[in-house]
Amino acid sequence: MPALYRLAYEGRLAPGFAVIGISRTAMSDDEFRNRMHDSVAKFLEDSPFDEDLWRSFAQGLTYLAGDVGDAASYQKVSAALEKIAQERKTDGNVLFYLSTQPSQYAEIAEGLGKAGLAKGTGWRRIIIEKPFGHDLVSAQELDRRIVAHFEEEQIYRIDHYLGKETVQNIMAFRFGNGIFEPLWNRRYIDHVQITAAESIGVEGRGAYYQEAGALRDMIQNHLLQVMATIAMEPSATFSSDSVRDERSKLLRSVHTMKPEEVAENAVAGQYGPGRVGGQAVVGFRQEQGVNPESMTNTYAAATFLVDNWRWAGVPFYIRTGKYLPKRVSEIAIHFKSAPLAVFGQANEGEPMAPNLLILRIQPEEGISLKFVSKRPGAGMTLRPVSMDFNYGASFGERSPSAYETLLLDAIVGDATLYTRQDMVEASWRAVQPILDAWSAQKFPFSNYAAGTWGPEAADVMLARRGHVWRTP
Ligand code: BG6
Repeated sequence: MPALYRLAYEGRLAPGFAVIGISRTAMSDDEFRNRMHDSVAKFLEDSPFDEDLWRSFAQGLTYLAGDVGDAASYQKVSAALEKIAQERKTDGNVLFYLSTQPSQYAEIAEGLGKAGLAKGTGWRRIIIEKPFGHDLVSAQELDRRIVAHFEEEQIYRIDHYLGKETVQNIMAFRFGNGIFEPLWNRRYIDHVQITAAESIGVEGRGAYYQEAGALRDMIQNHLLQVMATIAMEPSATFSSDSVRDERSKLLRSVHTMKPEEVAENAVAGQYGPGRVGGQAVVGFRQEQGVNPESMTNTYAAATFLVDNWRWAGVPFYIRTGKYLPKRVSEIAIHFKSAPLAVFGQANEGEPMAPNLLILRIQPEEGISLKFVSKRPGAGMTLRPVSMDFNYGASFGERSPSAYETLLLDAIVGDATLYTRQDMVEASWRAVQPILDAWSAQKFPFSNYAAGTWGPEAADVMLARRGHVWRTP
């Protein structure tokens, strides 16, 4: 709702734009509007809340109580849509947005289909929130049930990382500039580290999170999509299908681990009690709704290899976790060292640092290139320095939130930043061997204190290939 309000603020929604909120709770239109008013005013991040604008926006908000399992509810939706189409001249265009428990997606799609709502006088589209399935088989089953009623072109599987400005900028950086692409391969790149560290815990979502875990919650979707954007081939055009074809191809080239490869290439962690931002916090097993013997990972790290000519042998290390020391998401491209150490150990006794390119997704969005430079003065002493681009400073304007971008894209029918079923399945295939191995494993949890950078085993995983995690 804050994203929709913000789109209205920017004047990007048609005047007849309307929302029907649906849930089980009985509520009048006005009660719904008041609740939305209070939430939007509270959660709107970076723009003033304009009461006048809200009043006109809220005229388009209505509410309907219904239940996903009740056929009559879909008939009520149908009648409400017809009424709105006439009153607000929407041409019958409808975007269904499923922000429910994942286990209800299929049933709702079927309910809409059976009520004849998947087709109409205008366009009909459906947004499915993540997670799309909880493993490969369930993702295939979910898709089978949705495509029985909606065509692939109507289905928008959301992954909000793809809507982040900085993730989109990876494509601009790689394919809008001539100088990086020639270096973007196994010849010059030693390895890549993708980090999504969160300083928050499970924030009252213990019950959901306990079923999901970090590998499913972040790596299977967000971080593998980021990896695909970093590693995909340039697409011939910027059309939705060309870009998605390349992302999909990359995901399908991710090496599928054999069961015996999992132990060396994946690390699970779970936080214990600790201190975050100066506050004492409880361990995951003490969180509300969490089983005191839970084997859920709140930290996951994995080494992925890509079986293609560009990337063969280059490890992509991915890590994510709750209650890490700070909130930061970044991609660090570690280049190979210069072929000859002509300056020896001139870097004040330290080995010469190889070049590093950091693409920072959040916060302080930007790009930095690290290289060595001569220190002023006599002698040839070198020191790493940094060339920085900062989004905020360069553009001096606000970036839209991922949900603004994605909701508007779905409204205009642009699916470039949405995932397609083949991509969803390819990323489940990449993590499935890890899920399988972990499901049978008893971990000595907790294995990292809240507020630290995760379990030691993650350092050992990189050390096997002679690498060290960067501290962002
Ligand atoms: C969500 C996960 O998809 O992404 C959350 O379910 C996580 O657990 C969130 O906190 C992270 O998103 P962002 O945009 O804050 O990096």
